[in-house]
Order: sequence, then structure tokens, then C-alpha cells
Amino acid sequence: VPLQPYNSFGIVARAQHLVRIRDEADVAALLADARWHDTPKFVLGGGSNIVLTGDVKPLVLKVEIMGRRLIEDGPRATVVEVGAGEIWHDMVRWTLDQGWPGLENMGLIPGTVGGAPVQNIGAYGVELQDRFDSLDAIDLQTGETFTLDAAQCGFGYRDSVFKHAPGGPKDLGLAGRALITRVRLRLPKPWKPELGYLDLERKMAETGVAEPDARQIFDWVCAIRQNKLPDWRVLGNAGSFFKNPTVTAEQCADIIARDPKIVHYPMDDGSIKLAAGWLIDACGWKGKSVGNAGVYERQALVLVNRGGRTHPATGGEVMTLAKAIQTSVYERFGILLEPEPVVI
Ligand code: EPU
Repeated sequence: VPLQPYNSFGIVARAQHLVRIRDEADVAALLADARWHDTPKFVLGGGSNIVLTGDVKPLVLKVEIMGRRLIEDGPRATVVEVGAGEIWHDMVRWTLDQGWPGLENMGLIPGTVGGAPVQNIGAYGVELQDRFDSLDAIDLQTGETFTLDAAQCGFGYRDSVFKHAPGGPKDLGLAGRALITRVRLRLPKPWKPELGYLDLERKMAETGVAEPDARQIFDWVCAIRQNKLPDWRVLGNAGSFFKNPTVTAEQCADIIARDPKIVHYPMDDGSIKLAAGWLIDACGWKGKSVGNAGVYERQALVLVNRGGRTHPATGGEVMTLAKAIQTSVYERFGILLEPEPVVI
């Protein structure tokens, strides 16, 4: 089965087998089949945060579970339940159309609702974990259905239990083990706008709108993203390719002494987050390429496929470029950038 249509980079790779999961019963049927019960499995959502570096040997389960419903509209929150296969952005627009604000800062993030908890998506000052209620998943080994709250998901910055492989007794990693079926989002009342991000402050200053409503913020976020980030349908990519690193205040002071312009944000715990895009940009990577893998001209944190569908970058080219970037950032700043997408 060709996987090029199922990854936003547009990399060519194949799966030996791919099964579409439309509801819980599809998983039950699969696990009841002796041929598939013990086969390693790979859960695929929107394919917008993966780098395929070869053919995928595990059985690919493409999650297409749909459905959106209101399950609670109380005085303190609106809670909606959404099928894992729903497109995240369409779901965000739907909540706004229904008059349930809260997800507007996360408009236009690619991918599916089921993928959102895996990497705890976030943008413009709001992360999934800030709007998360719980999720349902199926254990692919036992077939049992289970529910996890936020603490059990182990959310971190672009991280969760679903990004980690199962290991020793203390390692609760669920990668390849759990298939997320439904996600419940909790939208707190009363609604409060989240406007702390520099790009949004700029929009307020430019437009003179001092008290934007949720729809206005959503429109701004979409406009900012369209301006900065390539549309994967036009230019394949997987969003930010590296996480923004955090350093201690001392390390940061050292770097500032040498590079006064470095973009940095103090965190609540006293550490400092650095803009990885700035570090890469400072090393001169914007517009550079390895084969058909390139560094996006308008945001150095995004690696792109310049070869389109016909001569796409290979996963190897993307990873060679990524390693070269890591080396040069390390040599100049002493910081090792960590890839953000899941490399397969
Ligand atoms: N910058 C440069 N040169 C560049 C890129 C960035 O100098 O080439 C500097 C700019 O000063 C800019 C700052 O870095 O103001 C930060 O850039 P930006 O606002 O674009 O945000 P980011 O830190 O690069 C993060 C997330 C994005 C998210 C935005 C907005 C990560 C890894 N990335 O990017 O998430 O949309 O903030 O909240 O945390 C993703 O995860 O795939 C993603 C796109």
C-alpha cells in the first residue's frame, strides 16, 4: 500500500498492509483474527507529524473514527466528544460555529483529533492539555477499552505517553500499544481570550481591535499561520521539525553574551526557552537543501519537500538535512536540537 497520500511530507514509502478503522468494532474484529492478533501495529492519524525513512513493516491502522457531539454544557465548561479521525481544524471551526469558544488559538493545526494528544499540539499560547478532558483508547494487545485523564496521558511540551515505546515496568509508554478512539475537550467558562503571544499582540496593534472575540482570534491565528507556515498540500512538510530547547538562565546568559539578539522566553520554572527557528536561521540554513529536502525560507524551523509528488524528497534526505542542522547548531551554540516529529 503506498503511503505517500497519507503523510504530509509527501514522502514515498509503502506499508505491507493497511486497515481502515471506522469504529471500535473494526479493532475488535481485527484483534479477534488470529492472523493479526500478534502482529506489530502502527497507528496512523493524519500523517502530519511523521517522517517515513523506509517501508513500514508493522500493520498500519488508519484511524477514521468520526463523530462530534456535545456531552456537557454546564456553568463551568462545555465538553465535546470528538472521533479520533475527525480533522482537527474542521472540528475547531465547528466548535466556534456552535458558540463554544476555547480552541481558537489552535486553528489551522494540521492533522486529526486523535493525533492531537499524541504530541500535545499547541500554538499561540494554548496547548491541547489546557483544553483536555479525557480520551478513550483501545489496548491493541488485550482489546480492552480504557479511558485516560490528563495526568494519565503524561502531557509535556509536544510529548505524551503515546509518543514513547513501552519499556520497563516504570515506563508506561503506549506507542504502538494504544489506539485513541475518541477525545473529549473541555472548554472552560467564562471564556477568556489568550492574547499573550507576540504575533497576536501585533495583530491587535495593527488592527486597533483591543477586545477580540474568539472568531477574531481564530481568523488572526489562521492568517499568521498561512503567512509563516507552508501549506503541506502545496509544499510537503511536518510543521516544526525540532522542539524549542530550554536552557538554564546561566547557559542563556552565556549565549546572550555572544549573540545578543537570540530570541528567548523565560519559563515559569526559571528555565529559558529558546526559539529553535532563530538558532537555525542564525546558522544560515534558510533556503538550504539536501537533495529535495529543504529549509523553508520563511521559517527555518520547518523542513520542506521541494520535489512535490513527482520527485519527492526521501526520508533519508530529510534526516541528512536534519542531522547537518543539528551539528551546526551544536557547534555554534552547544545546544542539541531534538526532532519534533516521530521518525519511522
Ligand atoms: N525566528 C527566526 N527565524 C526563523 C524562525 C523563527 O528568527 O526562521 C524567531 C522569530 O523571532 C520568531 C521566533 O523565532 O518570533 C519564534 O518563531 P514562531 O513564532 O514562528 O514560533 P516557533 O517557536 O518557531 C512554535 C511552535 C509552532 C507553533 C508556534 C506558535 C514548536 C516546536 N513550534 O514555533 O508549532 O505554531 O510556536 O505557537 O514549539 C509545530 O509544532 O509543528 C508547530 C508549527
